[in-house]
Amino acid sequence: MDNQQFLGLIGKMTLEEKIAQLVQLAAPFYEGVSDEGQITGPMEAMGITDSMVTNSGSILGYAGAAGAIAVQEAHLKKNPHGIPLLFMADIVHGFRTIFPVPLAIGCSWDLELAEKSSEIAAREAAVSGIHVTFAPMVDLVRDPRWGRVMESTGEDPYLNSLFARAFVRGTQGDNLKEEVERVAACVKHFAAYGAAEAGRDYNTVDLSERQMREYYLPAYKAALDEGCEMVMTSFNTVDGIPASANEKLMRGLLREEWGFDGVLISDWGAVKELIPHGVAEDEREAAYRAIRAGVDIEMMTACYVHELPELVRSGRVDEALVDEAVLRILQLKDKLGLFENPHRGANPEREAEVIFSREHRDAAYELAVKSTVLLKNEGVLPLRPEAKAALIGPFASSGDILGPWSWDGRKEDAVKLDRALAERLGEGRLTVAEGCGVESGTEEQLQEALAAAGGADVIVLALGEDSDMSGEAGSRSDIRLPQVQLDLIARIAELGKPVAAVLFNGRPLDLHGVYDRVDAVVEAWFPGSEGGAAIADILIGAADPSARLTMSFPHSVGQVPVYYNHYNTGRPQGAPDAQVRYVSQYLDAPNEPLLPFGFGLSYTTFEYGAPALSSDEMTAESPITITVDVTNTGARAGIETVQLYVRDVAGEVVRPVRELKGYAKLELAPGERGTAVFTLSEEQLRYHHSDLSFKSDPGRFEIFVGPNSRDTSNASFKLI
Ligand code: NOJ
Repeated sequence: MDNQQFLGLIGKMTLEEKIAQLVQLAAPFYEGVSDEGQITGPMEAMGITDSMVTNSGSILGYAGAAGAIAVQEAHLKKNPHGIPLLFMADIVHGFRTIFPVPLAIGCSWDLELAEKSSEIAAREAAVSGIHVTFAPMVDLVRDPRWGRVMESTGEDPYLNSLFARAFVRGTQGDNLKEEVERVAACVKHFAAYGAAEAGRDYNTVDLSERQMREYYLPAYKAALDEGCEMVMTSFNTVDGIPASANEKLMRGLLREEWGFDGVLISDWGAVKELIPHGVAEDEREAAYRAIRAGVDIEMMTACYVHELPELVRSGRVDEALVDEAVLRILQLKDKLGLFENPHRGANPEREAEVIFSREHRDAAYELAVKSTVLLKNEGVLPLRPEAKAALIGPFASSGDILGPWSWDGRKEDAVKLDRALAERLGEGRLTVAEGCGVESGTEEQLQEALAAAGGADVIVLALGEDSDMSGEAGSRSDIRLPQVQLDLIARIAELGKPVAAVLFNGRPLDLHGVYDRVDAVVEAWFPGSEGGAAIADILIGAADPSARLTMSFPHSVGQVPVYYNHYNTGRPQGAPDAQVRYVSQYLDAPNEPLLPFGFGLSYTTFEYGAPALSSDEMTAESPITITVDVTNTGARAGIETVQLYVRDVAGEVVRPVRELKGYAKLELAPGERGTAVFTLSEEQLRYHHSDLSFKSDPGRFEIFVGPNSRDTSNASFKLI
């Protein structure tokens, strides 16, 4: 259909029919159960009538091809204009085949695998009848207290932007009408949800516009540049106005400045939440502010359907605003080919064929291997082939390794570490004990663990947070492992045997009581359906850990937020003229995190040569090339992620001490030398000035190359 036809159709719709397109209800409404059903928030009695359901535009959370086909058919029979429903769901890191959580995927620094994971997630979703996924989540994160850091790829705007693009490409492909096994992407949560004060979910965000543009906005923009079809508002305020009522942000920045003309959906209940936020007195004002801000679909509350009719009839809201929203929704349905093919990819046979297929699980395995970060290793890993091992801890035999937002992922399907490790080590070489639960334990469990450990040469502890301890509404003020697990570590460490800890969790943790007590630490995150197999292969050395952190691990929660691309301050610690006391520092903790952005070990070692620059002067027309030789000095093959950082020594406004500008992955055999080559241009040195203009400043720049954001060699050049 073309726009003329859509306008014709909109012209035939009653006001109520049009407004019903703007409401999104959850699946239970279509199953005749209107007062229950929960996905991620309370669903109160909403005052939804049958006719609103008949005319509604989209549905949240339905999955299953046969069901989706039946619901769509029934809907089309009733809907007076034959407008198909859109089915949307949160397919965040897999549908049924679950990939590692996005924070782990970020640590892979592997855009191809990230793209493939979204493609597979989209395929499984599409054959089950879903048309839109509420992903990617690209909120920049700095505060590990916030449970949703596991949904983001981390603290760096450049890397987050690359991943945003990869996820959108994988999800949407090139042509949604033809590729019915792709789905439309919805980037979220616009904007700056990751900056919630004190890491408490749904809390206030207050950032300068410059800070937003420099750090927080690039990844959303990157997703849109990649053609992302939808945007979701965030729950938080942006400069005092909740995103869902923020005209400056939505109409001004998103639509006018960035030219986004796709569908903008509120987050769950976010329109009605304008009332407790304190910017609307009642549902009518909430609807008024949201439609004026440009929110097309109201998710899971009914302010629009209840109040827009009167707001339009009284002349307070121009009907053109409603028409505009309906048009965008119809256009999206058309892009997805729903008018010709209302069931689109929904297909029970394909469902049986592709969902959780071997091929999909293999991809999940590969990404789990590539997402696992080796944080410490003092000679324990890989496990020696002849060693007898004890696997101890609440995650030794647990299927709770999929992580939050695992849609149809099933814990019972997950490859568990005990099984995978036993298979690899062979008969009689592994004893397993739980030791304790995630948050509590018994003396009996502990004694059993000590007995298992007593008979082993090496101990692997499988520890972590259960999946409810992160994710939405999963903020924590103490980000250490639960005390019972710390006690378990202490008791095991007393035995004096080599100990490796494997961590399953959704956020950077305070590793006191872990890092200092064990010989090796493997950060497995929530590794997904094939997690056990991937981790077991890393433990025995069949696979090399190659992931690098994309979020800093603090020493302690008191340092939070701690991130690599911070400003220097006027009194930096450690500067040549720094005083002992009157500098920017803690009296009781270092400034730097325990483990910095970009950090991760391998089973081999790499040696870096000095970075060589093609010129020590750059102009707008002449980029420079930076080359660095890296040699694998260990006895095994390995992948090194060579990282390039830049610092603008003096800007018009203060500049970060380091900013990632590029990276190269080198796969090197033992003894092999490779060269990482980076091109750096003036364009990459631009930033937002105090008047928000985006440009570079001539002057001196420092370059840092190395295996992480801390351990680097430097050089410098001048931009003229
Ligand atoms: C609330 C979450 O904030 C959002 O990420 C999600 O997409 C919606 N609920 C729908 O489940």
